[in-house]
Amino acid sequence: MTILGIETSCDETSAGIITGTNTKNPVQLLSNVVSSSLSFHAKTGGIIPEIAAREQIKYIIPVIDEALKKGMGWDFSKKTPLPIDAIAVTIGPGLIGSLLVGVETAKTLSFIYNKPLFPVNHLFGHIYANFINNDSSINKDIKFPAIALLVSGAHTDLVILESHGKIKWIGGSRDDAAGEAFDKIGRLLHLPYPAGPRISELAKKGNPNAYKFPRPMISSKDYDFSFSGLKTAAFNEIKKHPHLTDSEKSDLCASIQQAIIDVLIKKTINAITEYKVKSVLLGGGVTANQKLREELQTNIHRINKDIAFCVPPPNLCTDNGAMIATAGFYLQKQTDWQDITANPELYFD
Ligand code: KG4
Ligand code: ZN
Repeated sequence: MTILGIETSCDETSAGIITGTNTKNPVQLLSNVVSSSLSFHAKTGGIIPEIAAREQIKYIIPVIDEALKKGMGWDFSKKTPLPIDAIAVTIGPGLIGSLLVGVETAKTLSFIYNKPLFPVNHLFGHIYANFINNDSSINKDIKFPAIALLVSGAHTDLVILESHGKIKWIGGSRDDAAGEAFDKIGRLLHLPYPAGPRISELAKKGNPNAYKFPRPMISSKDYDFSFSGLKTAAFNEIKKHPHLTDSEKSDLCASIQQAIIDVLIKKTINAITEYKVKSVLLGGGVTANQKLREELQTNIHRINKDIAFCVPPPNLCTDNGAMIATAGFYLQKQTDWQDITANPELYFD
C-alpha cells in the first residue's frame, strides 16, 4: 500500500510518500518534501499563527506536487489517476489555521481522486517516524511493548505502545515542553528561534557542571515533567551575569542542556524498568539533540543490551509528511472525508 501523508500542524508544510506491505516490517520512504516558514518566525522570536497559516496556503500544492513527482514520477498536469492507495493527514494537535490547510486539501484530493482518507494524530506521527526504513544503522527490530519519549516545542510525553494503535499515555509536562524551555532560555541569551539546535551547538564547547541548575521533578514517582522552574533559574543566572563571555555562554548552555537531559533520561529509564519494555522510540524535534540520544542509549544499554533503541534521522524527527503517511499505514483508521475535522486540542485518548 502506498500512502501520501500531509502535515501542516505548525510552521512546516510537508508531504511524504511511503509504501508498506505488512505491519510487521518498516515501511519504505519514497519521498519527503518539507517547506518551512521558520525564517519568518526567527525574525519575531516565535511562531505567529496567522503568518504560519498564510505560508501553508502558499506552499501546500507545490509541496504535494513535488512529493508526487519525486516519489512516483507523477504530476498533476498529466491528468492521469493519482498513483497512490490512500491519503493520510494530520488533524491535530496544532495551530487551527495551519491544520485547516492540510485537512481541507487532503479532503479535496480524497474526494476528487476517490482515495481512502486516514486522519492522523500528529503525536502518533512522531512515534511512527521510527517505523520508516532508512539508511542509518539504527536498530529497526521494534518489539512490543515499546515506550516512546516525545519531546518537541509543544510536547513532552511518555507513552507505552502495547501494539500498533494500542497506546497508553503515562505522563507528560505539567507546564513548558522541553523544546519550549530550550527556546525560551535561548531567547534570554539572544539566540535565534528555535534555540534548541543553537544551545546544543554552544553546549559542545561548554562544561555541563559549571552552573548548578535544578532538575525539576527528577525524584517524583510519576512520569510527569516540569520545565518552567528551570527557565526561571536560567533567567536569574543570566540577570546576575548580563555580560557573559563566549566561554561562559557555552558553559551556561551545556549546564541547561544537561539539566533537561538528566530529567528526560531518569523518567524514561524508570518507565523502561517498570513497564519492562523491549524497545525505546524517540520522537519530536528535541530528539535531534545528539547528547540526549547518546546518553539515553548508554543508560538503556546499561540496564539491558537487548532493548532496541530507535531514533529517526534528524530530518524525520522534526515535522514531516512521511511520518504521517507511516502512522496512517499502521493505524489505518479510514474515515469518510465528510467526517474529518481539524482538532487543535487533540491529545492522546
Ligand atoms: O517537533 P518539532 O519540529 O516541532 C514541534 O512540533 O514542536 O520540534 C521543534 C523543537 C523546538 O523547540 C527546537 O528548539 C527543538 O525542537 N530542537 C532541539 C534541537 N533541534 C530542535 N532542541 C534541542 N536540541 C536540538 N538539537
Ligand atoms: Zn511535531
